Amino acid sequence: MSKRALLIIGGGIAAYKSLELIRRLKETGVAVRVVMTEAAQKFVTPLAAGALVGEPVFTDLFDQAREFDVGHIRLARETDLIIVAPATADLMAKAANGLANDLASAVLLATDKPVLMAPAMNPFMWANPATQRNFARLQADNRKFVGPNEGEMAESGERGLGRMAEPQQIRDAALALLSDGPLKGKRAMVTAGPTIEAIDPVRFLSNRSSGKQGYAIAAALAELGAEVTLVSGPTALSAPRGVTRVCVESAREMLEASQAALPLDVAVMVAAVADWRPSAIADEKIKKDKAGIPGIALVENPDILATLSKPGKKRPKLVIGFAAETNDVEAHARAKIAKKGCDWIVANDVSGDVMGGDDNTVMLISKDRAETWARMPKEIVAQKLAVEIAAALNAKSPGRK
Ligand code: C5P
Repeated sequence: MSKRALLIIGGGIAAYKSLELIRRLKETGVAVRVVMTEAAQKFVTPLAAGALVGEPVFTDLFDQAREFDVGHIRLARETDLIIVAPATADLMAKAANGLANDLASAVLLATDKPVLMAPAMNPFMWANPATQRNFARLQADNRKFVGPNEGEMAESGERGLGRMAEPQQIRDAALALLSDGPLKGKRAMVTAGPTIEAIDPVRFLSNRSSGKQGYAIAAALAELGAEVTLVSGPTALSAPRGVTRVCVESAREMLEASQAALPLDVAVMVAAVADWRPSAIADEKIKKDKAGIPGIALVENPDILATLSKPGKKRPKLVIGFAAETNDVEAHARAKIAKKGCDWIVANDVSGDVMGGDDNTVMLISKDRAETWARMPKEIVAQKLAVEIAAALNAKSPGRK
């Protein structure tokens, strides 16, 4: 099936270039639908854009006939990519803040598809802290950008950053987002966050894991096209786009959910699983005054990584564990590979502020290779790891690096 793009044309002088963009996208076989804002219609006519795509463009959130016919929810979903070109300061502000008072912004709020924005505005408007705030916000929301470029502004003759990317450049960025990733068709599972182990109905044992690294890995694998299940202990994070999240509390629940995700091409165990749990969970809240200070007997939790690593037909092709170490990182990691039976260990140096922090310093270790990655944001660690996983799964024997 050919790929589909929904082009939202915002109200700026660069809108005329969007007509060229439609032609360029269609040349490569992409089916294009168009939404125009009210302001966009002051620069190019819906008739011109409609003639290029071969169907009327969509302009009105409250157009009864077309809302019944297609509707903004279907417009938002029945596409593989949404392109906003030109993305005006106003459209960016609306999208960054979740406003939905016209068709274009409602579609952007309702979509679960990738969004590519091509900003175009006066250099002062682009440099304004409000626009830069919105830009940062949208990037954090995983919106992709192409441009703006440096150049002379059509209306004022001013030079600076703010000129819309050329149609060809926007088309290339769109095609990159539309192409199937190297993990297309691969099944991945990531465990993340802490587990909590109940003592009684209100108390539990747990740890400080934030889940950030595991969530970033799940997102990065999905971004490369994998079908991802994220088995997560309690965290404050929301599920990354395109990832199926299964929420669990205890290690035993995490093990069960992980096994339910089989068969898998790759399993990445990032969760900080509690090593022990209370041997019994009291049915009622343990009273402070009655029994004096209670002793809590502990028993060992199942090792999810070791269980999934066991040789057998169901074993994922590639099993990756994490190891938090403070010293002798490589030696400890190699010992862990041997003990748990996994293929790779991502060892992180937790001598600093890694737990709950935004950065990580890791070493990727397999039986015959060790590589240190300098301190970098957890998202970048995740992206690099996803690329390594894709390379391994697309090679002949995934366990080897
Ligand atoms: O033995 P250690 O806790 O250092 O091993 C860490 C690695 O093992 C991590 O990948 C962690 O997710 C995994 N693990 C697990 N189940 C456990 C303990 C650790 O999957 N019960």
